[in-house]
Amino acid sequence: MTGTIHHVGVAVDDLDAAIARWAALFGATLEHRERVEDQGVEAASLRIGESRIELLAALGAETPVGKFLAKRGPGLHHVAFATADVGAELVRLKADGVELIDETPRQGMFGLQVAFIHPEATGGVLAEFVGNE
Ligand code: CO
Repeated sequence: MTGTIHHVGVAVDDLDAAIARWAALFGATLEHRERVEDQGVEAASLRIGESRIELLAALGAETPVGKFLAKRGPGLHHVAFATADVGAELVRLKADGVELIDETPRQGMFGLQVAFIHPEATGGVLAEFVGNE
């Protein structure tokens, strides 16, 4: 079953400025920064105590985050839940007829398995599963 919230994803226009902003406001420290070509983002994982914020800058206007920014502007993008088995969660949800973005897990930041669930399923919030490290 699903565990804790792994991170909250935030779409940003300027990754460097956002990292500095979250550091100044909340003492966030940069844990990891990576271009995830598959998702069309440059991402920065920040730690605030035990919590994680994932800042997402689009690699292009036609990427999912690029379209999100054009439509809604910077802000809350998704909530990610840690789980022992991403594939099993997808099978469980698919059996319940839940609309998925990813039918199978793919590789995300830190080389961890991830998968996204369509916002329709949650009432407007994009949700993500992240496999345990
Ligand atoms: Co994420």
